[in-house]
Amino acid sequence: MNEWIERGSKVIMNTYSQFPIVIEKGNGVYLWDSDGKKYLDFVAGIAVNALGYNDSDYVEQISLQLTKLQHCSNLYWMIPSIELSEVLIQNSCFDKVFYCNSGAEAVEAAIKLSKKYGKKHHGEKCYEIITMKKSFHGRTMATVTATGQTKYQKGFDPLMPGFSYVEFNNFNDLKEAINENTCAIIIEPIQGEGGINPVEKAYLQKVRSICDKNDIVLIFDEVQCGMGRTGELFAYQLYNIKPDVVSLAKGLGGGFPIGAMLAVQKKAEAFQPGDHASTFGGNPLACTAGKTVLNKLLNKGVLENVQKQGKYLKEKLIELKVKYEMIIDVRGYGLMLGIELNCLVKDIVKECMNKGLLIIGAGEKVIRFVPPLIIKKIEIDEGLSLFESVIQQFQK
Ligand SMILES: Cc1ncc(COP(=O)(O)O)c(C=O)c1O
Repeated sequence: MNEWIERGSKVIMNTYSQFPIVIEKGNGVYLWDSDGKKYLDFVAGIAVNALGYNDSDYVEQISLQLTKLQHCSNLYWMIPSIELSEVLIQNSCFDKVFYCNSGAEAVEAAIKLSKKYGKKHHGEKCYEIITMKKSFHGRTMATVTATGQTKYQKGFDPLMPGFSYVEFNNFNDLKEAINENTCAIIIEPIQGEGGINPVEKAYLQKVRSICDKNDIVLIFDEVQCGMGRTGELFAYQLYNIKPDVVSLAKGLGGGFPIGAMLAVQKKAEAFQPGDHASTFGGNPLACTAGKTVLNKLLNKGVLENVQKQGKYLKEKLIELKVKYEMIIDVRGYGLMLGIELNCLVKDIVKECMNKGLLIIGAGEKVIRFVPPLIIKKIEIDEGLSLFESVIQQFQK
């Protein structure tokens, strides 16, 4: 294993502080490193591997598509992207889909669409976007600017003009920031990287009505919390408040790179041929992956599993909070849960890994639970027992 890490360090750019293990293969909710050590995976590629690893339908469908068509230009229609779009549209409040390859690109597309919409309907200066503090929207120049955490922006000045940041869940702050040049507001219904912070329903209702009143595009960034993660297909369905635009990625492809930006008709019309594009967007393999994930979520009981296991996991985490003083809060929905500790999580995460449990932080003091959506109760029990043994070690 050390040899791989040595070789990797020589040739892979130093942008991640990687753990010193080499993951070689996976099955179900388990991963194995190159020394053969087995790990229970509560990370799922950071909320990506919705169906876990080696799901037989997933492997079969992508393999079949691989023998038919691997890539084709968007200058031509392709069947998998049409079929995937139909499922997304039939099961949401949106009318049109734009495909790309990652979360940042999906948010980028939402930003571009909103700017075009603002300028078209309210004049050239209508391009300002309001985002939330503690948010995370990606690493491209526009999305890192949209991200409401300075730690991701340091060293990349000058940032993009036209962005302002308001306190999450604080309507007065938002109201004061809105002006005649505001074209969009962007919100993660559950902030992921910022620490598993759910938005409040009453706040969201007010945001929706102020957007309606001022014809502002309401964008939900569901890159992390969408696609079944919360127990609903879209996180907005939890709140019953419809955005105009949503960004998706991560779980949509279940491990295959795909991003999507969905919009309601009136907003979607702001884009005309030539306005936006992506060579790989709507790739037939990626869309086949997306179709398989959605089929399992909607028709094979995976969404119901998220609701059931999410409820169980949350109850168990609340029990741990009662037992251990170091846990000060439990929050989130479905299988996107977080516990806030009164200490840094870094060493706890490392010790869990040593014991065979992969888990990650969300910010410095929150541990995030985002396992594959197919996880069973027995696997949750196994992970929690490992986790509790580590918490015991760190409890003072
Ligand atoms: C809410 C949210 N938006 C956007 C992104 C960026 O996605 P990607 O890393 O695929 O570009 C992330 C990634 O963590 C995210 O959590």
